[in-house]
Amino acid sequence: MSDVLDVPLSELLDLAVRTAREAGDMLLDKRPDRPEVIQTKSSPTDVVTALDRAAEELIRGRIREARPNDAILGEEGGQSSGASRVRWVVDPVDGTVNFLYGLPEWSVSIAVEVDGEIVAGVVNVVPRGEVFAAERGAGAYLLTTGERLRCNTGVPLSQALVATGFGYRPGRRAVQAQVLAHVLPRVRDIRRAGSAAADLCSVAAGRVDAYYERGPQYWDYAAGGLIAVEAGARIGGLHGKPYSPELTICAAPGLFEELHDLLAPLDPERDLPEP
Ligand code: IPD
Ligand code: CA
Ligand code: CA
Repeated sequence: MSDVLDVPLSELLDLAVRTAREAGDMLLDKRPDRPEVIQTKSSPTDVVTALDRAAEELIRGRIREARPNDAILGEEGGQSSGASRVRWVVDPVDGTVNFLYGLPEWSVSIAVEVDGEIVAGVVNVVPRGEVFAAERGAGAYLLTTGERLRCNTGVPLSQALVATGFGYRPGRRAVQAQVLAHVLPRVRDIRRAGSAAADLCSVAAGRVDAYYERGPQYWDYAAGGLIAVEAGARIGGLHGKPYSPELTICAAPGLFEELHDLLAPLDPERDLPEP
């Protein structure tokens, strides 16, 4: 991969890591006691703060300075095109509701695509001071300790600690609650931590056994998905489909199939009409 780029892949990962750290430091530094909601997006509970936007601006600025020809897709700023083969995929704050309430599970997520394929990713879980990163084919690491990450293996569904998340719209949440009602009695327990990117890193680090969610967006799972896969997890959708906003499931092989088979008959890709 690196020989066909203008720079080695590791330089792109370094830039991603430096930028995610800088954005995280800025967010911690500037976060007031109760950040103000400046806009709602898909529903009144889907919020954005001025600092979500400021963080994305900072990240875009650093990438543009270093790599002016690359494309960037960011949750807040949308897509900007570029002539190179590289695209950066950015969620400046994943877990904005936690950020708003002062809960410690929010992250800065940056992934690097070459020719449309994710090749590197970093997730900075800022309040915990933990930076997770992976390069395709080179493993996943918790950079802050140097530890190589490996997901849990051999865990049966009945013993699995399963992370999930919920969308912002009531019609989607109603189905997610129905699905959860079937899942909860069949697993060890459920965690709803509030950042999909951090959830996927938790799979990678063996802090949960599995993750599933209907509705996460590309910027939510681009970096974390690679980190989980490089830690040995499988990630996918229903019936062999790729993982996507329709449904994303992630766990070690074996548990992945068990969780898939529990979810599939529940028709988890549907939404009820909005009230
Ligand atoms: C959200 C978080 C949450 C997940 C939602 C995402 P945001 O991202 O990742 O854990 O359940 O699906 O939208 O809005 O905080 O960037
Ligand atoms: Ca997000
Ligand atoms: Ca976000």
